[in-house]
Amino acid sequence: MTLRRHFPLLNRPGPRIAYLDSGATAQTPDIVLDAVRKFETHSRANVKRGVHRLAEAATEAYAKAREQVAAYLSVSADEIVFTSGCTGAINLAAHSFGTLLKPGDEIAVSELEHHSNIVPWHMLATRSGVKVNFLPIDGEGRVVVQTLSPRTKLVALAHVSNVTGAVLDVAAIVAEAKRVGARVLLDGAQRTPHGPVDIPALGVDFYAFSGHKTFAPHGVGVLWAKAELLDAMPPFLGGGEMIASVTTQGFTPAKAPAKFEAGTPPISGAIGLGAACAWLATLDWAAIAAHELRLTGRLLDGLRAVDGVTVIGPQGLQCRAPVVSFDLADAHPHDICQIMDRHGVALRGGHHCAQPLHAKFDLAGTTRASLALYCEDADIDLFFAGLAEAKRVLT
Ligand code: ALA
Repeated sequence: MTLRRHFPLLNRPGPRIAYLDSGATAQTPDIVLDAVRKFETHSRANVKRGVHRLAEAATEAYAKAREQVAAYLSVSADEIVFTSGCTGAINLAAHSFGTLLKPGDEIAVSELEHHSNIVPWHMLATRSGVKVNFLPIDGEGRVVVQTLSPRTKLVALAHVSNVTGAVLDVAAIVAEAKRVGARVLLDGAQRTPHGPVDIPALGVDFYAFSGHKTFAPHGVGVLWAKAELLDAMPPFLGGGEMIASVTTQGFTPAKAPAKFEAGTPPISGAIGLGAACAWLATLDWAAIAAHELRLTGRLLDGLRAVDGVTVIGPQGLQCRAPVVSFDLADAHPHDICQIMDRHGVALRGGHHCAQPLHAKFDLAGTTRASLALYCEDADIDLFFAGLAEAKRVLT
């Protein structure tokens, strides 16, 4: 059972592509391409500005996309801010929530974070004198939940690691954050492609993710935050449509989410993301999760059987997403990726924008296979054929 048939790129004529780089960008299904094409050919116009029929249709489609995304996360549409991506979403939070903090306040991230969930906090620290603390990770690449300093105001962590595939123990983090009165932000970039997220059940305060990893176009992402936070936070970018009024003396911001969507938003991207979320919400996630996990198990078992391979991350399948990173006898990950590409296997090699994590494991980089709902056994077969060749050439 896979959904590969819905993805035109994976069904293009020619040799099979074993697309195992969905953690970088997932492929796009027909239903999303159709929604974007319908918008572009029937109602392309700017939103929230015009009174002509195309502008009204575009505004309606954009509002519907916000509802579709909100439904995927079980939250209110007024709390969904469209951004340029997950990085844009975390930068928005760092800037706007950051203005509510005082020197001496602390932010906790972890050693496994993607740079997009480290650098914005470092930048905030430079600007405002808050301190950034790093929660350690264990030998399996999981965040160790530690006692937080009472000065902690925010804990910002990946829901799923983009390198180890480890799924965060959100309940433990939220409990510890609540104990010290800190807010919790989750970077959900590697989580949202694997099924709907019940944000109220998680009990977090912010959630960020990107469209292009969730089967939607590039250039769109989402920041969800509790309404009370969106109200309290000042805007990040200034420009059109984020104001209630402007005079020569100053401006009054609009209410959220408009307050955080200055300028023309990523309209067709948002419509594509809405369509993706609506489609994903119809799928049988118990079956998909079992399928993704079985393929991940094949990867882990097969890698373990290869001399010189070390898997970085959880060795088992518990609390694990289908992302597997490994070292092959110190061979350069780019060399591995190039050889694997000759077998039609798309992987990512390098530090995966997670240098602190790789430093912890004393590696410059790793090779990563990241799966999505369209992967099949034939992709894993190609992976191991390519890996045998890489091993023969490089070790
Ligand atoms: N954040 C993306 C990745 O992990 C680009 O590959």
